[in-house]
Formats: sequence, C-alpha cells, structure tokens
Amino acid sequence: MTAKIIDGKAVAAQVRADIAVRVAEIKSKYGFQPGLAVVLVGEDPASQVYVRNKGKQTAEVGMKSIEHKLPVETSEADLLALVDKLNNDDTINGILVQLPLPDHVNAEKVLNTIDPMKDVDGFHPMNVGRLWIGERALVPCTPTGSIILAKSVQENLSGMEAVIIGRSNIVGKPVAQLLLRENCTVTLAHSRTKDLPGVVRRADIVVAAVGIPEFVKGDWIKPGAIVIDVGINRIPKDDGKSRLVGDVAYEEAAKVASAITPVPGGVGPMTIACLLRNTVEAALMQKGLVA
Ligand code: GUN
Repeated sequence: MTAKIIDGKAVAAQVRADIAVRVAEIKSKYGFQPGLAVVLVGEDPASQVYVRNKGKQTAEVGMKSIEHKLPVETSEADLLALVDKLNNDDTINGILVQLPLPDHVNAEKVLNTIDPMKDVDGFHPMNVGRLWIGERALVPCTPTGSIILAKSVQENLSGMEAVIIGRSNIVGKPVAQLLLRENCTVTLAHSRTKDLPGVVRRADIVVAAVGIPEFVKGDWIKPGAIVIDVGINRIPKDDGKSRLVGDVAYEEAAKVASAITPVPGGVGPMTIACLLRNTVEAALMQKGLVA
C-alpha cells in the first residue's frame, strides 16, 4: 500500500477561505471586525517567523491584526500590564503571547492572566478544564488542526483505536480529548510506555508528538492506519544545511499507512488556520452571538 499524502497546505487554505467568508459576514451582519493581538518578547528567529506569518494571515482573512514586539529585557510586570490592557480592549477578541518567553518571566503566570474568553491558544486552565468536561472551550490550535486532517481522509472516526505518542499539555493531552470526543478508543502513550511499538501497532490512527526525529518506525504502523505527524525537527545535512523531518520515519510509514501527513506541509500549516478560527469563535462568544 502507498499512503495518500494528506495535504495540510490545501486543507489550511480551505479553512482560511471559510474564515474569510465568516469574517465578511460578521462585518456586514454585526458591524464589527474581529481582532487578534500577538505579543512577542525578544528576538527568537523562529518566533519572529511565526509572528510574521500570523500577522499576514490574520490580515488576509479580513481581521484586525495587532503586534506588540517587546525587547527581551521587558519585565514580567510590564508584560502582565500589557495583557491586562488587551483583556480590556473591546477591539481585541484574541490574545496570543508567543512562547517561549525569556527565563526571567513566569510564562504560566502570563498565560493564566489572559482572559479565558480571549485565550485563542486554549492554554488557560479554564479552557483546558472546559474541554475535558465537554463544555464549549477554546481548544489548542495544533491539536484541532491534527483532527481536521484525520477527518479529511475519514469523516467518521467513531470506534477507531487511536494511539497518541507524547503527553504534552500543548499537543498530546488535548489531542487525546478531541479523539475521545470523536468516539475513538484512546491510548495516550509516552516515554515510559512498555512495548511502545506493540501499542502503536494496534492503532487505526497514530498521532506522533514526541519531538524526536523519525522516532516512529514503519514497522510500528498497522497496515491501513492514518498517521498524523505533529513533529517538526530540524536536522543537519552533510552539506552544512539542514532539513525538516517529523517524528515519523516518513518513507517507511508511507508504505504501510493508508494516509499520512508530510513534514513540512502537514500539520504545520493548520496551526495558524485554527488560530484564526479560534479568534472568530472568541469574538462571537464575547458578543453573545453563540451559545
Ligand atoms: N510557540 C510555538 N508555537 C506556539 C503556539 O502555538 N502558541 C504560542 N503561544 N506560542 C507558540
């Protein structure tokens, strides 16, 4: 079997096109423009690229995009004051503080200060808890994108065995909850899991989010499984340049799976698309326009 390659770029473009339509409807029907504020502290090159792309794509779907770029020495108190100001700004519906933050800032404290209704990352304990008890919540973007991609090849995931590798708060745990919501039987595997290859071989859906290059081997994959690779690892090449690989040994796995996400071009493009979706959702919640 040769797997279908799940085209994350194309699916993300479709999500953004849908958002652009919804933003236009919100403007004409309700007379306001949803707004997203992104806060970047310091000059981490990868973060600068993310933030630039977020700003560009936010504007492209017709939303207001605000960026606050602060020097690396910004104090925690000043950052908290900015978050507070954005919490109280009616033209801002979503707030994202780019991670990682400098060491002298308590990231948890900053994230927990964001108004849960504006927490488009879905990292606030209020949203985490609401997701787990099945109430309306803002859900983290990469997990949402992963589920959309799995459903792009199989709309109904009900009853499927899902194995997630990696138990982070940002990916593994929310993905587990989202797959449970799709009526999958969920195993959340991690570094201490016994016989990990044997566990993964049971899976109809594999979500790899461990951050180790090409960790999941082709012979761990059950024939016909759907493989969602959340990893983005930069590894050096012989010529001194580098290339991006996922957490799955792609070439091997693609011979066994029925569908697989590539790296790059799989889950990656979905994150910003889902962030824009969350911003629209947050705007509608704040205005009392959704239940
Ligand atoms: N840094 C890398 N990815 C993310 C993300 O999804 N959200 C935030 N806030 N920071 C990030």
